[in-house]
Order: sequence, then structure tokens, then C-alpha cells
Amino acid sequence: MSGPNKNYDPVQVTPLNADEVEQMVARALEAISAAGTTADLKAARLAHNGDRSPLALANREIGALPPQARKEVGQRIGQARGAVNKAIADREAELSALELEQRLAAETLDLTVPVLTQPVGAPHPVTALMDRMSDVFIAMGWEVAEGPELETEWYNFDALNLGPDHPARALQDTLWVDPVEQGLCLRTATSPVQVRTLLNRDLPVYVVSPGKVFRADEYDSTHLPVFHQIEGLCVDKGITMAHLRGTLDHFAREMFGDVRTRMRPHYFPFTEPSAEVDLECFVCHGESVGNPARPCSTCRSEGWIEWGGCGVVNPRVLAAAGVDPDVYTGFAFGMGVDRTVMNRNNATDLRDFVEGDIRFSRSLVGGAR
Ligand code: DAH
Repeated sequence: MSGPNKNYDPVQVTPLNADEVEQMVARALEAISAAGTTADLKAARLAHNGDRSPLALANREIGALPPQARKEVGQRIGQARGAVNKAIADREAELSALELEQRLAAETLDLTVPVLTQPVGAPHPVTALMDRMSDVFIAMGWEVAEGPELETEWYNFDALNLGPDHPARALQDTLWVDPVEQGLCLRTATSPVQVRTLLNRDLPVYVVSPGKVFRADEYDSTHLPVFHQIEGLCVDKGITMAHLRGTLDHFAREMFGDVRTRMRPHYFPFTEPSAEVDLECFVCHGESVGNPARPCSTCRSEGWIEWGGCGVVNPRVLAAAGVDPDVYTGFAFGMGVDRTVMNRNNATDLRDFVEGDIRFSRSLVGGAR
């Protein structure tokens, strides 16, 4: 047998008859429109338009038809495949647009949703105030000096002209380190930094020294065994009490606004003359004094707030640190920092200072003036 089979009738060849092709197309279109994802569509394309799909198989049959039948059938199959192709392309465009939309929706970030933030710390109000106080002096060209918290008896007492019989050496005040005979204690004031500064630095010196101090005190609302002071020391030629006065006034104004200071004569072994320095009440400016209608809780209606001690550096201290008191003079002062925080911020209980509650630090630091 040679040549095409002239008797081959496309109507009789099942895959090529119009009804059958129409059904193939209908099934293909149904599967394509039912595809809900691009993966489904890929499967539908393979089943209805792939190499082994009914339409592809039908297409192969065309060659077996007599030539006069091929055109019509070819057109039928071609149109059918065209329709299926177009449906696939349309559905593909729809699905990928849909999937993009879904992906974008899934990836959307709602920036207004409240999130659980990791709590961050806050500087302790005492640290913050010591920094501020230091800044007042740094702005005048002073330096910040540091000394150890574990101090020798000589720096803490002897060099500061606190003789062996001075009451401040009594065991109930000073925290000595065992064995007591070795003469090591937790410093009871920042004053020993004065001596260290004079021994370690070239003259003149202008330093402040903020830091922790320790005393065998009760732990209650007005006492802490560990508290903070800021020490000031100036040693230069021609320094007088007037320089001390001016420095403290400036310090007070920088810290508290428009206030005066006053000095009351006092005794400290390391200064001569010595004074206690009071701060004019920065809340009532004295108006609460003798005025029960306007009581002031900051100064307890006294008009003044005790701030610290000060004086002209005792020549014995200068001599102990190898400074010639005939050439140099100086002044010194020391203030409690914790109490200053209390005054400035109306804190009433010193125990809050050591309990480490972040809400306390935040409220004071945030509200610190
Ligand atoms: N060291 C004193 C105290 O702890 C405070 C003090 C007073 C420091 C007078 C000084 C000063 O430098 O001159 O109470």
C-alpha cells in the first residue's frame, strides 16, 4: 500500500469530528477556568494542551487524512488549540495578578499595630545629677578626678588632718575592711581624692570628684550606708574665701536657677576657716518662712536648704600632699548628691534610690531640671 488513505473519513475518525473536538475544547476550558493557582493551571495546560493531550493527539491524526479533508480538520484543530492557548494565557494573567495581590496583602505591614517593645534602661538620677554637676565645672575649665572607693586610712583620715582620736574614725561610722589593723576602709567621703589629686597632678589644680561614699549608717528613708558626694578642690596662687563664695554661687545658680547661697561657720579638720553652705530655697525663695498659709515642703518652711561643707584648704592638708602653703592656697567643698536629687525632685524616701525600680529612675530623670 502506498500514498494517503483516500477513504479515511474525518467524520468517522472519532478524535477529529467536530463534536469531539468541541468537547475537548470544552473540557480544556473548564479545567483552565477551574484552576485556582498557577500550579493548577500548569497541570491543566499539560493535560489539555501538552504533547499527550487529546488535542495534540488529534493533531497528529491529521496527517493520516486524505488531503482534501486535511484543511478543514486542520483548521478545526488549529482553532481549538488556539482557543485553549488563549484561555490558558488569559487565566495565567488573571492568576498571576491574583497571586501577586495575595502576596502583597500577606506581606503588608501594619505600622500602626502596637508592638511589645523591649524595655530600655534609664540613667540613675544620681548618676545623671553627678554628670550635670560635673558639667557645670567642666564648663569653667575644671577637670574631673577619680579616686578609689577602697581607701587607706592615711588618705581617708590622716592626710585630711583627721587625727587618730577624731570621732569620725570611730567604728560605728567607718566601714573598715578585715583585718582592721591593715588600715583599709571604704572611703567615708570624697575628700581623700583632694590629697590624691594634689599628689598626682601639677599645680594649679581645679578638680571636682563625684562618687560613692560609705558609712555604717542605718538604711531608712533618710539614710543610706552607700551614698554619693561631689568634692571640689581648687589650689592655686592667691586663692581666697571670696573665690569659694563666687564658685558656690555660680554652681547653685547653674543647678537651681536664681538662688543665693549662705555660709554658716562650722568646723572641718581639712579646711580652715570652714563653713556649711546653705542654698536659698529654690521653690519658695524664703516666702514660706513664718507664713503658715504658704508652707514649703522643699525647705520645710525654713527658707534655706543645707547643701554641704566647704572652706579654705587647711595648710596642713597642703603640706601633707607636698604643696607649699606659703605659696599656694585653695578652697574645697563637698556636697551630698542623693539629698540634692531629693530636693530637686521632691523624692521623699532614699530607699527608692537603691531599689533599682526603673519607674523611679525614669520619673526623676525625665523630670529632672
Ligand atoms: N567631707 C565632708 C563630709 O563628708 C564634706 C566636706 C566639707 C568636704 C568641707 C569638703 C569641705 O571638701 O571643705 O561631710
